[in-house]
Amino acid sequence: MGPTLLLTGANGFVGFKVLLSALEKGYNVRAAVRSLSKSESLVQHPKIQVLKASDRLSFVEVPDITNQQAYEEAVKGVAYVIHLASPLPSPFLDPQTGIYEPNVKSVTSMLQAASQEPSLKKLIIASSVFANMPFPPNGDKITPESRLADVPGPFDSMIPAYSAGKIGALNATERFVKENNPSFEVVNVFPGFVFGPDDRALEADDLMASTNRIMLGVVTGQEAPGPMPAGACHVYDVAKLFVQALNDGAPKNIGATVSHVFNEAWDIVKENFPHAVRSGIFTQGSQETIPIDWDAHQTEVDFGFKFKTWSDMVVDVARQYLELLGKAKE
Ligand SMILES: NC(=O)c1ccc[n+]([C@@H]2O[C@H](COP(=O)([O-])OP(=O)(O)OC[C@H]3O[C@@H](n4cnc5c(N)ncnc54)[C@H](OP(=O)(O)O)[C@@H]3O)[C@@H](O)[C@H]2O)c1
Repeated sequence: MGPTLLLTGANGFVGFKVLLSALEKGYNVRAAVRSLSKSESLVQHPKIQVLKASDRLSFVEVPDITNQQAYEEAVKGVAYVIHLASPLPSPFLDPQTGIYEPNVKSVTSMLQAASQEPSLKKLIIASSVFANMPFPPNGDKITPESRLADVPGPFDSMIPAYSAGKIGALNATERFVKENNPSFEVVNVFPGFVFGPDDRALEADDLMASTNRIMLGVVTGQEAPGPMPAGACHVYDVAKLFVQALNDGAPKNIGATVSHVFNEAWDIVKENFPHAVRSGIFTQGSQETIPIDWDAHQTEVDFGFKFKTWSDMVVDVARQYLELLGKAKE
């Protein structure tokens, strides 16, 4: 049996791909879910079934990630943690209690539990490019080592709440490490907007349950209400980095983003899927982009691969969308 990895957020867009990759690499995965009722659909998912790894996948219920004892049971006996569970910006969540607080408190509760667990070697946290990018952006160059001061709340809109939550979680992590000198390593991964095939998806509408809906908006006639910062990463690159970050010697701050322009998705789709454009499946929308100088090139050097491009992300999502609509060959 390989070492045990606690994975939070395993039923999310990024988490599901990390789950598949970790099982493929031979880890025993303990997936933390908000409710055990969510575990059955994960176990039964065709992409999990095909791995024949059900003996290496178990579940632990963590009903409230903001509770400071949330992960005490979940971390027992594990060698590694990949911590992805936290809310993304959503108009359906309260910015203060539904976005900002869970982003900060789920990380502090994980650190608290981890510090009580002698078997733990490494904790990898899903940060974000938003964790060290001033919002609104000011044009400065950003690297994985850039840091910002905590932003005082309360927050009444979703992007500032998410940004402040990721800043607060990163700063709390670094304070914790400085003050407690834990025996385990802590790694932060900083992805840009994540796009790419959603391995959970069984029908076309399922693609709207992830950040892919922002990209699909540009090619399905949606006009976005406001601009979004540049910076994107293919979900396969992000998942690969989370799993490879478990290896000894991996860097502690890992950028995962390439520059992109949302509206170029339309030109990419026109070039690659002309039939679907002619038949009206794809129609032009718009999402304005704020240019950002977030430099993650060192990750390519450290891990020895080139990030997939915005064009790769658009082609892969558009292809999956057509396949799920049953229109891939039109
Ligand atoms: N997607 C991106 O563009 C992007 C970019 C940078 C960083 N990240 C970070 O990567 C991580 C995963 O993102 P994702 O795109 O996979 O998000 P996602 O699809 O929305 O999945 C989020 C996961 O976190 C869990 N979660 C969210 N809020 C929770 C709460 N209040 N209590 C308990 N569990 C909660 C969800 O569980 P339920 O299914 O029970 O809701 C789900 O498993 C997040 O930390 C996110 O901030 C994402």
